[in-house]
Amino acid sequence: MANNEKYKVLEVRFNDQLSNSELELINNINKEFSKKDFYLAVERDKIIIYLNQLDLEKFGSMIAKYNLDPTSVFHKAYEQISSIGSYGIKGGKRLFVGYNKERKVANRKGKEKERKKFFYAKGHNFSKQNNEFPSQYLNKIICADSEEFLTQLPDNCVDLIFTSPPYNFGLDYENHDDSNHWENYFTKLFNIFKECIRVTKYSGRILVNVQPLFSDYIPSHHMISNFFLQNKMLWKGEIIWEKNNYNCKYTAWGSWKSPASPYLKYTWEFIEVFCKGDLVKKGDNNKIDISADEFKQWVVAKWSIAPERKMKEFGHPAMFPEQLVERVLKLFSYKDDIILDPFNGVGTTTTVACKLGRNYIGIDISEEYCEKAKQRLKNTYKNYTIFDYAGTE
Ligand SMILES: C[S@@+](CC[C@H](N)C(=O)[O-])C[C@H]1O[C@@H](n2cnc3c(N)ncnc32)[C@H](O)[C@@H]1O
Repeated sequence: MANNEKYKVLEVRFNDQLSNSELELINNINKEFSKKDFYLAVERDKIIIYLNQLDLEKFGSMIAKYNLDPTSVFHKAYEQISSIGSYGIKGGKRLFVGYNKERKVANRKGKEKERKKFFYAKGHNFSKQNNEFPSQYLNKIICADSEEFLTQLPDNCVDLIFTSPPYNFGLDYENHDDSNHWENYFTKLFNIFKECIRVTKYSGRILVNVQPLFSDYIPSHHMISNFFLQNKMLWKGEIIWEKNNYNCKYTAWGSWKSPASPYLKYTWEFIEVFCKGDLVKKGDNNKIDISADEFKQWVVAKWSIAPERKMKEFGHPAMFPEQLVERVLKLFSYKDDIILDPFNGVGTTTTVACKLGRNYIGIDISEEYCEKAKQRLKNTYKNYTIFDYAGTE
């Protein structure tokens, strides 16, 4: 294999001769890293960097030990490597060569066409005409049943919906019975989701956080996904929210260490991602606020985020953490977009949307939760003026 296939090769020039300690650092770097991953060579007035894969943090901390001038050739090398936008990630290392090899399929587009991609969404009749969001509801918390309230919004007026529906687990909500007959539960939920699809803009997104139901053997994430596919939404993907929460019980009585009926445990939840009409949502590049590192990490669709620890403080049994919303909004929406949560609870979605410079509307059936959601917004922006459902101050 030629050297340029094994390595990405970079050059960094220096003005004077390298000092003894700089030469020592080169030696140490070459000893510390495996030659097939990364090494440095000196040629007259430049350092040649042979880069296959690298633990950038380790490289940085080796440089830091030498207390070199910040304009040193090593700092320049570090900057050049860290500014490379295109790389894979494996075991904490950035992969610079061959990381996307397995994705190369000859005539990919033609084959996609033959296979009839999105066959399930064929014949949708979503209009491409997006509509203004009614100003009286913009940046408001609304106390209502979403099934009724959403009918007041026009078609195609919201950029992104992120929500976590009540799970029908029997949780102790303030104003909502969480142990319905399953058929009633899904009928109600799907009526609300139908409205959600209607109010989402063409190429807008709907993301639903669902916990798999381990008690009643209801695969709610599949049932919900199936609903969206039947309603011609495009499936963009699925994120595993790894909560690392091992609190769930090990076994049902009588099933311990027996193949009779082992009890499966879940330490994670799902986020199902759907798009209306188009997977690509065009927007103003100046309104993108995700950093290169965030993007690299978050497109790996397993997110390790601890569950919300302040549920007692907020008096809500099923909040999601702000970090989850931050990732969703930065990855799937632009600043100034309109974000809706039809099961807004104590307002995690609306609070984070507000912090990140998005517009929002949060609906919840419980007055108590809505008051808390408003309070959170008030704390976020001291100058925030609270409006109620009718839009009065
Ligand atoms: C899983 S919680 C969402 C919690 C939220 N993600 C948070 O971080 O606070 C579901 C919420 O749906 C609300 N809810 C239940 N039925 C509703 C309905 N028909 N319309 C609006 N909200 C409803 C409940 O009051 C509850 O707060």
